[in-house]
Amino acid sequence: MSQCILELKSVSKAFGGNRVLQDVSFAVKPGEIVGLLGPNGSGKSTLLNTITGFESVDGGEVIFKNQAIQGLAAHQVVQKGIARTFQLPVMPEKMSVFEVAMAASTSHHGFWSTILGTSSARKAEQEARDLAASLIDQLLLTRVQDSSAAAISGGQKKLLGIVCALMANPGMLMLDEPTAGVHPNLRADIIKVLQQLNQAGMTMVVVEHDMHFIRELCHRCVVLDRGHIVADCHPDELSSNEKVLDAYLGSARPRVSLEDTDTNMAKVDGAVI
Ligand SMILES: Nc1ncnc2c1ncn2[C@@H]1O[C@H](COP(=O)(O)OP(=O)(O)O)[C@@H](O)[C@H]1O
Ligand SMILES: [Mg+2]
Repeated sequence: MSQCILELKSVSKAFGGNRVLQDVSFAVKPGEIVGLLGPNGSGKSTLLNTITGFESVDGGEVIFKNQAIQGLAAHQVVQKGIARTFQLPVMPEKMSVFEVAMAASTSHHGFWSTILGTSSARKAEQEARDLAASLIDQLLLTRVQDSSAAAISGGQKKLLGIVCALMANPGMLMLDEPTAGVHPNLRADIIKVLQQLNQAGMTMVVVEHDMHFIRELCHRCVVLDRGHIVADCHPDELSSNEKVLDAYLGSARPRVSLEDTDTNMAKVDGAVI
């Protein structure tokens, strides 16, 4: 039995002739927060899509809790316990924030409570409502919970995406750029919420460009460059990792002194934000 909750073995994915993921292998231990980094177009969202059933893999294996899950549909992956957010969440105009959260519930409250009105269905619906209200509160959306989900800010849509993922009661979260477009004041709150979730045992893979966020939150970072993993290291080692600097800085690389960690980090920060 593997000690890992998630294991990727030689995952490959191409779109036509564009080989977006090539032989990607890494593992995540229970309780870890792994940052997934890499320049734009390096394959980060595609990797999340292949893990969560939104894209098929061309080759390789995705093992979650010792079961192969590659080839499962997205809803089946959620049932296995992996929920995700999207880089660019799109929300429906005719549903409120609260209704969107309720729609993401994986309990069967809706059908049974409406059609049959049984007491167990009513109990399930009340539990889902309580969970939605509590998550909306934690993710600072109470003030807009009755607004159209399409009318809230881009940052608030990101927060609502996290609420929706948590409504599925997952064992593992995949977050695609959770703070991109979020007001800087809110970023610290998101970090706090994610830390609390992690302290309660949640394992996470987080695609993120904000180096402060990465240093505060991530235990480990996996760095992709053109579909290959080029580094798997502690966040503090990113700024001195030559392959990471090569990936981000490319031709600017010769101008950067590897001895000057702060300069490198600033360059890397500047390149990725
Ligand atoms: N559905 C798709 N069809 C064709 N090409 C795609 C698709 N999704 C992603 N790509 C391509 O895959 C590459 C990696 O994209 P992506 O995974 O979104 O990168 P990242 O998230 O690291 O910025 C890009 O060249 C992108 O154009
Ligand atoms: Mg992306």
